Amino acid sequence: MSDQALVVFTPSGRRGRFPLGTPLLKAARSLGVDVDSVCGGRGICGRCQILVSEGEFAKHGIVSRADHVTAWSEVEERYKQKRGMKDGRRLSCQTCLGGDVVIDVPPDSQVHKQVVRKRAEVRDIELDPAIRLHYVEVAEPDMHNPTGDLERLKAALEQQWGLVDLETDLRIIQTLQRALRDGDWKVTVAIHRGQVMTAVWPGFVDHAYGLAVDVGSTTIAAHLCDLASGEVIASSGIMNPQIRFGEDLMSRVSYVMMNPGGDAEMTAAVREAINSLTTEVSAEGDIDREMILNATFVGNPIMHHLLLGIDPTELGGAPFALAANSGITVWAAELDLAFHPDARVYVLPCIAGHVGADTAGVMLSEAPHLAEEMTLVVDVGTNAEIVLGNKDKLLACSSPTGPAFEGAQISCGQRAAPGAIERVRIDPETLEPRFKVIGCDLWSDEEGFDEATKTTGVTGICGSGIIEAVAEMYLAGIVSEDGVIDGGLAERCPRIVPEDRTWTFVLYEGRQRIAVTQNDVRQIQLAKAALYAGVKLLLDRAGVEQIDRIRLAGAFGSHIDPMYAMVLGLIPDCDLDAVGSAGNAAGTGAAIALLDTSTRAEIEATVRDIEKIETAVEPKFQEYFVDAMAIPNKSDPFTRLFSAVPRPAGGEAAAQRDAGRSRRRRRRTS
Ligand code: FES
Repeated sequence: MSDQALVVFTPSGRRGRFPLGTPLLKAARSLGVDVDSVCGGRGICGRCQILVSEGEFAKHGIVSRADHVTAWSEVEERYKQKRGMKDGRRLSCQTCLGGDVVIDVPPDSQVHKQVVRKRAEVRDIELDPAIRLHYVEVAEPDMHNPTGDLERLKAALEQQWGLVDLETDLRIIQTLQRALRDGDWKVTVAIHRGQVMTAVWPGFVDHAYGLAVDVGSTTIAAHLCDLASGEVIASSGIMNPQIRFGEDLMSRVSYVMMNPGGDAEMTAAVREAINSLTTEVSAEGDIDREMILNATFVGNPIMHHLLLGIDPTELGGAPFALAANSGITVWAAELDLAFHPDARVYVLPCIAGHVGADTAGVMLSEAPHLAEEMTLVVDVGTNAEIVLGNKDKLLACSSPTGPAFEGAQISCGQRAAPGAIERVRIDPETLEPRFKVIGCDLWSDEEGFDEATKTTGVTGICGSGIIEAVAEMYLAGIVSEDGVIDGGLAERCPRIVPEDRTWTFVLYEGRQRIAVTQNDVRQIQLAKAALYAGVKLLLDRAGVEQIDRIRLAGAFGSHIDPMYAMVLGLIPDCDLDAVGSAGNAAGTGAAIALLDTSTRAEIEATVRDIEKIETAVEPKFQEYFVDAMAIPNKSDPFTRLFSAVPRPAGGEAAAQRDAGRSRRRRRRTS
């Protein structure tokens, strides 16, 4: 009988012959099979579980049986009793080869496992976190062979894990002796990106955590992730306390310009908020915040600078110079963040002075740079960040939309909060509106609406509400293509009332009157025209006329109904079913960079290659802006939209103009 046996690992299909008695974990390692381990084969961590497949495997030329490996061991029994293990599973570090076998490595035992994500995503995440844990037994000091504790730890890491040339933080040396003695010379070491010892704990530790944070100008959101499984174990959000220094980004930059030391105040405020958020998610996830060893951050350029303690004044005016636009890795302690004292923080790269690390996060999540389709990604905020392209070329710009989409500068505008109108429908025959408010599932014309909204009331219109209101007013013929509220309809519609020398459309008359004024319509026109003109510049530069896919990102973007955004001409013409929300794509991008470190180099390379367009200096911006003031647009026909949505009666002129334009085009080309 041969003293060697054949082992085939599935699903990788890797195979090799090994001497009988070889532990399966060792065989897997030598074949490069992806099997996890923290304890280094001591039967403690349970990460190395496998299944012995039974039966005749003609494909591999093997008859595999459970008794072709060594019998169930005491170590496995002890582990199963203590931590639990599914029937049929074995610890590969404790199971040795006794004959030919096929070994299945289940997904949860693989280091580079796929992370399961909630919604159908553009890309898969393969787990490859920056932090790996390694349990080691370290030689005790010997008077006859004097070496430092650190050197013996390094020798153990090299011998037991093959880790060489490790760098060490001073804090590791400061805490090492205690940890080694408390752990009876057995410690767990956290290694950052295979290079730097980041933490040492006495005994066996098998979980480390990471935090993915999206620092928005209004809210800060964080996801706490288990770095071993990729699972999000807690998520939470908090208002950005910098709001007290200025509602929007430019007012915060002005605050810095006018108040020496204002940047330091805002830096302290945002860091404090992140620390509170960390306390909250750690409590929710039931972990010690010191177990957070890695964090990733995204944010627009001004949030990015303030988080890092950089004065954002340069971003307040041309040429909008960033202090740094590459990805940045720093110690959490340098940012006063209360994670593990030696935790590392990675801040995603910024793209340009107005296009930040939040857009880099959106790109990681939506992956236009990996797609064939011509994709437009728009993060709608007070400053819209726009990316257009596909795997061949990407362009980016930002456009100053102002705060109208957030409900500011709108007469009855308010933030998205209970009581705010968020959905609007207008009957084109009767011109009678109905609406929904945040916090209530009923439409305003449904029975029980008044009762259901008794506590919240109907308090104003939020961003998505004003978009729908103006778009529905246009579809119902109340607002013309030029954005003028038609006072001629006042006779048949008592909701159209004069105000100064213009007209106002009253949506609701209750404890307070909620109405859309002529000036509100203008503000929305100005905001959407700025955004659309930015998109047009990118389309021009890319030499593209048709967009295959549109993704709306950001808190606001995920609440707008794509159809209404298109009716208004906020986004270009596209098949409606190819337009969708990217959800909180920036935060998802931060989580991707946290869980799969290979994406950090990917996004940095992508960002380096993006062509940046500065809208402020582009001569055609003004022309596009003027055209885009019309609803949906003076020069672009929006044929795909109007093949799905009936054009309003007042829009006949536009339709005729479009027909005329295409006739002229045909004549020119014939
Ligand atoms: S490697 Fe830890 S239990 Fe097998």
